[in-house]
Amino acid sequence: MRTAVVWDALLAELARLGETTGRERLDIVDAGGGTGGFAVPLAELGHTVTVVDPSPDSLAALERRAKEKGVGVRGLQGDLADLADLLDHDDADLVLCHSVLEYVDDPIGAMTAVAGLLRRGGAVSVLAANPVAAALHRALAGHFDEARAALADPEGRWGDRDPTPRRYTAEALSELLAATGFAVGAVHGVRVFADLVPSRLVDGEPGAAEALVALEQVAAGHPVLRDIATQLHVLARRG
Ligand SMILES: C[S@@+](CC[C@H](N)C(=O)[O-])C[C@H]1O[C@@H](n2cnc3c(N)ncnc32)[C@H](O)[C@@H]1O
Repeated sequence: MRTAVVWDALLAELARLGETTGRERLDIVDAGGGTGGFAVPLAELGHTVTVVDPSPDSLAALERRAKEKGVGVRGLQGDLADLADLLDHDDADLVLCHSVLEYVDDPIGAMTAVAGLLRRGGAVSVLAANPVAAALHRALAGHFDEARAALADPEGRWGDRDPTPRRYTAEALSELLAATGFAVGAVHGVRVFADLVPSRLVDGEPGAAEALVALEQVAAGHPVLRDIATQLHVLARRG
């Protein structure tokens, strides 16, 4: 439910890439792919998937998850900054950068390295935390000063104890991608309502989860609601 909007966009992009390349089995890199929440289902769809992640524990969990599903996913230990050394240039159809740009020291360097991996016409899928949602969630928890701080801070952080080093508005994400040579598509909101609605209104209520997903799919592109989503998703193509 929390990733339905991202999967809608990914599946449409995979279909487009399949048509333009004439290949059913696409080459995908999941940069900061962690335990394989996206990588393993993509491998189950028949694609060749490589995860790059600095965490040995995450890579071990990825291997277990892939084995359970009966698929192979290559795991490489490394940082986004090492992508050019770890993988061949111009060799990937799709690179995922999900929930990782928040943590990298040099986002411009990271996205430049991602662009270098992609074949011409290839795409990057970026998912990142939204500072507006951080402010909303801090305010709803009664932390009004922290909400104000998240809105004022250029990195979208609500204070020194905020575990997320950086967040991105839709504008900041688009600017980062354009500055690193990508043609940027529409930005969509992910989890507009899902993190605001009490789980008791969804769990165990017949049809509620499906109705919430359908609502999220409409809200993702809504001109006002998009910008309060917990995360923002964008697909961008290498020209
Ligand atoms: C929140 S998890 C997201 C995992 C996965 N992309 C997903 O969406 O389920 C963040 C991941 O980024 C990885 N990470 C943190 N800093 C990184 C860096 N500089 N380069 C690559 N990966 C990094 C972490 O090890 C972790 O697996």
